[in-house]
Amino acid sequence: MGKAVVIVGGQWGDEGKGKIVDFLTEKADVVARYSGGANAGHTVIVEGKRFTFHLLPSGIIHPGKLNILGNGMVINPETLLEEIDVLKQKGFSVGEHNLAISGNAHVVTKEHIALDKKEGGAIGTTFRGIGPCYTDKIARRGIRVNEFIKQKNDFAALVRPFVKDTYRLANQAISQGQNVLIEGAQGTLLDIDHGTYPYVTSSNPTAGGACTGLGIGPTKINAVAGVFKAYVTRVGYGPFPSELGSAKETEDESKEEPLSQEDILRANRGKEYFIGKVLRKQGKEYGTTTGRARRCGWFDAIAGKYAVNINGLSSLIITKLDVLSRLKALKICAAYEIDGKKTTAFPSDMEQFAKAKPVYEEMPGWDKELSGVKTFEELPSAAQAYLKRIEGLLGVPIAIISVGPERGETVFLRPKEFF
Ligand code: GDP
Ligand code: IMO
Ligand code: MG
Repeated sequence: MGKAVVIVGGQWGDEGKGKIVDFLTEKADVVARYSGGANAGHTVIVEGKRFTFHLLPSGIIHPGKLNILGNGMVINPETLLEEIDVLKQKGFSVGEHNLAISGNAHVVTKEHIALDKKEGGAIGTTFRGIGPCYTDKIARRGIRVNEFIKQKNDFAALVRPFVKDTYRLANQAISQGQNVLIEGAQGTLLDIDHGTYPYVTSSNPTAGGACTGLGIGPTKINAVAGVFKAYVTRVGYGPFPSELGSAKETEDESKEEPLSQEDILRANRGKEYFIGKVLRKQGKEYGTTTGRARRCGWFDAIAGKYAVNINGLSSLIITKLDVLSRLKALKICAAYEIDGKKTTAFPSDMEQFAKAKPVYEEMPGWDKELSGVKTFEELPSAAQAYLKRIEGLLGVPIAIISVGPERGETVFLRPKEFF
């Protein structure tokens, strides 16, 4: 029996979904994206070679798999063709045999991008035309891929061969017992319905979006795994209770400046901005799509538990555990204080959320480098305890731990959760 497994971002995006999807693709037959567009930047690193995907599924470098861009996506044809060209130049085969695009996906135009550049600054969008394109979709005046490929121009001719009834391909694969890996973009807290509105993207990156964005029913989904960093990052504006330092300090920091011993000392004396800086430098927290410095903060278990509920998560995937090494003490946000009252519920009123102050639990850190670790038992006991605490607070088992950006730097605890 095959399975359909959804991989969603549990935080504000950039959790390492690309790395995990690439890792899991080996056993998949189909890899499908269902929402968002080139606002996504998914990084895969294999034997030192780095790949960045904006529109193509992160499974595309595995030969013999079918990659689908679902109807829920917004596609910029020029960006897509560029991405395909880059892969072809690197010797990978991309053609009708391994790539299918939904004719009902919407097309991002130059006008969408221009409008995003004009209006998206207040939210801190990626300027990829995403909001304006989804606006036209909902207003029923958008251009879909099916219309676009009927135009007489070079781009249309190049896209035409890839366009298929992708809902049929996805459903056929499932009914034939194939393994379907469904790749989320963005993250739960960026969801247009469930995220930190208005500082969100314009689609449903949460698990429900996988059904509408691909044309498969909820009864066909076997598992939903949520990807979380061992801490939290956010790009763009909006409230962030467990943030270390301020958005402004982060913005002012230079990407080129290396991490110094002094920075680590200051972090270990408890200076919040420097703890954030250690995470940013050790975790290379600069955007794949925009190059912007990411705001960093402690793991937020209240937002994490919210993501468990919104997505119906069956397992957790914790990435970038290695980045926490060298910090003496770690904190987990285990409650919010709002208007002087302590709560463990994530508020759906964003005015309340903006007032949330973190209530922390402190745990010891570790010094050891983790990148060579292959089993849970090899982790320092402090790292084991940290993960167990996250598992306890979120109430869902951890299936995968990532300890480095390379495909192989992965501890696979529960293979049965997948294929
Ligand atoms: P995505 O958008 O969720 O696919 O995540 P991004 O690719 O935008 O950002 C994640 C970044 O962290 C990328 O640069 C990855 O190469 C890197 N990364 C992924 N997993 C790990 C990990 O376990 N440790 C470290 N150090 N880096 C990781
Ligand atoms: P991946 O798939 C992190 C953020 C933007 C901005 C807000 C709205 O790589 O995790 P948009 O351009 O979508 O209208 O911007 O959403 N954002 C992301 N942040 N990772 C992403 O994708 C993001 N896609 C959008 O920074 O705050
Ligand atoms: Mg990303």
